[in-house]
Amino acid sequence: MSTQTTQISSPSKIVDESGRLQPYRDRYNATARLFHWTIALLIAGMFLTDWMRGAAERGSSGRVWWLSAHESLGLLVLILSIVRLGWRLAHPAPAVRGSPLVRKAAEAGHVLLYLATLGLPLAGIGRAMSGGGDVVFFGLVIPSMTGRNSLLSTITHFVHGGLVMNLLLALIAGHVIAALWHQFLRKDGTLQRML
Ligand code: HEM
Ligand code: HEM
Repeated sequence: MSTQTTQISSPSKIVDESGRLQPYRDRYNATARLFHWTIALLIAGMFLTDWMRGAAERGSSGRVWWLSAHESLGLLVLILSIVRLGWRLAHPAPAVRGSPLVRKAAEAGHVLLYLATLGLPLAGIGRAMSGGGDVVFFGLVIPSMTGRNSLLSTITHFVHGGLVMNLLLALIAGHVIAALWHQFLRKDGTLQRML
């Protein structure tokens, strides 16, 4: 039996000659996949280090260590995200699949995820510095450039905590649910594009 595939009018489906749905064959390249999974892992590290800091005794050296780890990994997220965005603008990704509505939603979600990986670390720097504290990057101490600043502190607490942070979690959850839906219900190979 022939395994040749034909792209039919809807870009959401690729069918073989007997009409069966075939997985997509295009894939994010190695650089895109490396950026994606490194940053995803680091974001998990951000929540873990914040949780560990919260669990350590107030005023203890452990608490300071976990905040330094949080700041160091967060700055790494910022640096990698800037490099990733620059690289991505020069290297278009394979087209997002699905109906026009699904495509728009997925693309908007991806843009928001890019914004979050840039905006949240910046707000984290603002949150640390506006409290008058230094920022630590793997042992390198960057002194506060703002000193104590209550307006900046209020804004960055809002962006780097509470509501906005919960929106990020909802965005990541939606992104993961969409990937799993493609993988296990639609079985269209979308997840393979990123593996
Ligand atoms: C994508 C990157 C980051 C994520 C996802 C993230 C996540 C978080 C979360 C969930 C909290 C707890 C918020 C709350 O409950 O109010 C937090 C607190 C904090 N983050 Fe980040 N963070 C990131 C990057 C950074 C960076 C780059 C810095 C500084 C260089 C930073 C500094 C802080 C500080 C100072 C706090 C408050 C700690 C305290 O309450 O004493 N974060 N972060
Ligand atoms: C914090 C964690 C994550 C972030 C920030 C993130 C971010 C992104 C971004 C920005 C894209 C678009 C890439 C581009 O077009 O340049 C993307 C694509 C993708 N992500 Fe994630 N991601 C995260 C976690 C995950 C996880 C845990 C999974 C799997 C369970 C996943 C599966 C995918 C897939 C399959 C695509 C390709 C979608 C397509 O082909 O249309 N991501 N991700």
